[in-house]
Amino acid sequence: MEEGDREPARPEPIQTPKGMHDVLWPASARWEAAVSCFARLVEGAGYGLAITPILEHVGIFHRGIGEESDVVGKEMYTFADRDGQVLALRPEGTASVVRAFVQHHPVPPWKSWYVAPSFRHENPQHGRYRQHFQLGVEALGPTDPDLDVEVISLAHDFYAALGLRDVTLKVNSMGDGECRPAYLALLTAFLDAHRDELCAPHRARYTDNPLRVLDCKTPECRAATESAPHFIDHLCEPCTAHFQRVREGFDALGMTHVIDHRLVRGFDYYTRTTFEFASGAIDAAQNAIGGGGRYDGLVEMLGGAPTPGIGFGIGLERVFIACDAEGVFPTDAAAVPLDAYVIDVTGGDEARLLTAELRRAGLRVDRGFDGRSMKSQIKSADRSGAQVALVIGTQEVASNTVGFRPMLTDGEQRDVPRADVVAELRSYLINTEP
Ligand code: HAM
Repeated sequence: MEEGDREPARPEPIQTPKGMHDVLWPASARWEAAVSCFARLVEGAGYGLAITPILEHVGIFHRGIGEESDVVGKEMYTFADRDGQVLALRPEGTASVVRAFVQHHPVPPWKSWYVAPSFRHENPQHGRYRQHFQLGVEALGPTDPDLDVEVISLAHDFYAALGLRDVTLKVNSMGDGECRPAYLALLTAFLDAHRDELCAPHRARYTDNPLRVLDCKTPECRAATESAPHFIDHLCEPCTAHFQRVREGFDALGMTHVIDHRLVRGFDYYTRTTFEFASGAIDAAQNAIGGGGRYDGLVEMLGGAPTPGIGFGIGLERVFIACDAEGVFPTDAAAVPLDAYVIDVTGGDEARLLTAELRRAGLRVDRGFDGRSMKSQIKSADRSGAQVALVIGTQEVASNTVGFRPMLTDGEQRDVPRADVVAELRSYLINTEP
């Protein structure tokens, strides 16, 4: 371009939507490692991967989560598609997996896991996003409280596997169709008596969902409900026995837990055991790094034969915030370096062949392109983090050798016969393993 020429106008770049993020490498290596760790853990307990569409008919969430909930009432991404079907981006994974269970009727017990981008139109803050990733499990069939312990222990063991230590397991019981109406009546009577002390929105609407008042973070509601009746003191006999057995299970597995009478969770589908894992290392407003519970009525709500279930969702972004705060499972620890980087300054034929040969032998290899200079390719090899650069110049082609140049240790470049490169690289990698 001549001096004075103007650069052609480029369109304004477009950024990610508010509250949504790219995850690029090397940071994405930690995501991959965490998902693999989770998959290993839950597959080792008999859970198989479930992949459901990112969009569902909106009724799935209206029926399952409840129209009064914040997630459905205020935060869902809902739209009519070109055929006029009203669809929603999934705000969570449970309703979708249970919809799939009802649709395909697999034989229970049916245990599934998922990794699911989930969408909620929230006010973005650190740890609260409009798209977040959930790792979760859903187990359908047994009412056995030991299944609750199994599910909760999987989340517990996942945090431990990443190295997190400052995690508190909070539990509560939401009762069932037998005992919940009586408890709700009791709680409503309590709130009637304390109405004037509640925060303004709850003063006007506490009867819609009295449980939500327990969960309200305003100092007014907190103070007003200090002496509110506790659900676990008003459970029916079977729900009491269930909760007792779950707690015994935690003790048997050495899982410390606390009872949190305010833990009512935000969705209508919960029954009996509810739980949350809170990280002590991060901001209290976003410290829930996972949560879940039983939903013994959800399958029926979605049109299936009565089948109990339990599961959890773990927010991956928040888990990483907790990891960073605790200084564990760092981003760079997960990245696997390349074994070799092939440099060819003779036109590229040799690089094409050698790279393919090494990759087919199971080695991790990258190469330079575009016939760049030796200096520029060495720079790329350096930046790639590869252990070895394999250098091909005219001299190497003539002598049917490859220059073998260790990149991360001292060591001179030496010639290796072309036919021995795979074996040489393998033995080098074994001998320099930390
Ligand atoms: P949840 O508590 O709404 O439960 O979400 C599960 C986890 O996802 C939370 O503990 C948090 O770590 C993460 N999370 C939620 N919203 C956001 C957000 N806006 N930004 C970042 N992270 C977020 C559920 O979704 C239930 N489906 C869990 C479940 C499974 N219950 C039974 N089975």
